[in-house]
Amino acid sequence: MNPNDTAARYDQIAKWWQTQHQDSSYGIAQLERAIKFTSGRNSAIDIGCGSAGRFIRVLCQHGFQVEGLDISTEMINLAKQLHPEVTFYREDICHWVPPKLYSLISAWDSTFHLPLNMQEPMTRKLCDALELGGVFIFTCGGSHTSGEISGSFQGQDFDYSTLGVDTFLRIITEHNCTCRHVEYDQYPEKHVYIIAQKIGVAE
Ligand SMILES: C[S@@+](CC[C@H](N)C(=O)[O-])C[C@H]1O[C@@H](n2cnc3c(N)ncnc32)[C@H](O)[C@@H]1O
Repeated sequence: MNPNDTAARYDQIAKWWQTQHQDSSYGIAQLERAIKFTSGRNSAIDIGCGSAGRFIRVLCQHGFQVEGLDISTEMINLAKQLHPEVTFYREDICHWVPPKLYSLISAWDSTFHLPLNMQEPMTRKLCDALELGGVFIFTCGGSHTSGEISGSFQGQDFDYSTLGVDTFLRIITEHNCTCRHVEYDQYPEKHVYIIAQKIGVAE
């Protein structure tokens, strides 16, 4: 699915998403685990932040200078109301050019919507946008091979793609990151989260 079509569908459920997820603990323990690996607490960005500001709130509490990015205009507008102090980008992650290096980048249940051919360039780009010691936490489909699936959520059809866990791990390694944590956190669902850390050429 074209990312603009994904955006139009999330526009439709942005208010519902905020109401349902504003106080949700979903993914927060995993984010806290990622934060523990950080040394610098400079800039952080939540990719596909949605409207609830859940990760943004936690990152602010830990002292990061926080930014949010989402392709859905409605998601961004609602998130801005909750966090007027935060910089938001209404952008497709496929085309966004990181303006700086980050101490932490999160992409929780967002980049799994990208077309399959965008998964590798996106992963490379986000690894490259980490400062030395910076941490990247993201979720992906947990199959061993690459593939695409479709599903329905809140009356909207969405597409998902994955390169397979081993390929994501290879890409982060090629981009001077090491894997600090990989987990099937909803097993037997094929939902995986990975924590990677920029280590430079040698640790
Ligand atoms: C399932 S929601 C997750 C929201 C948030 N991460 C959370 O956990 O509450 C997926 C989000 O990813 C965003 N998204 C999907 N494709 C995107 C893209 N190509 N660029 C930026 N954001 C995207 C959607 O607009 C939506 O807000």
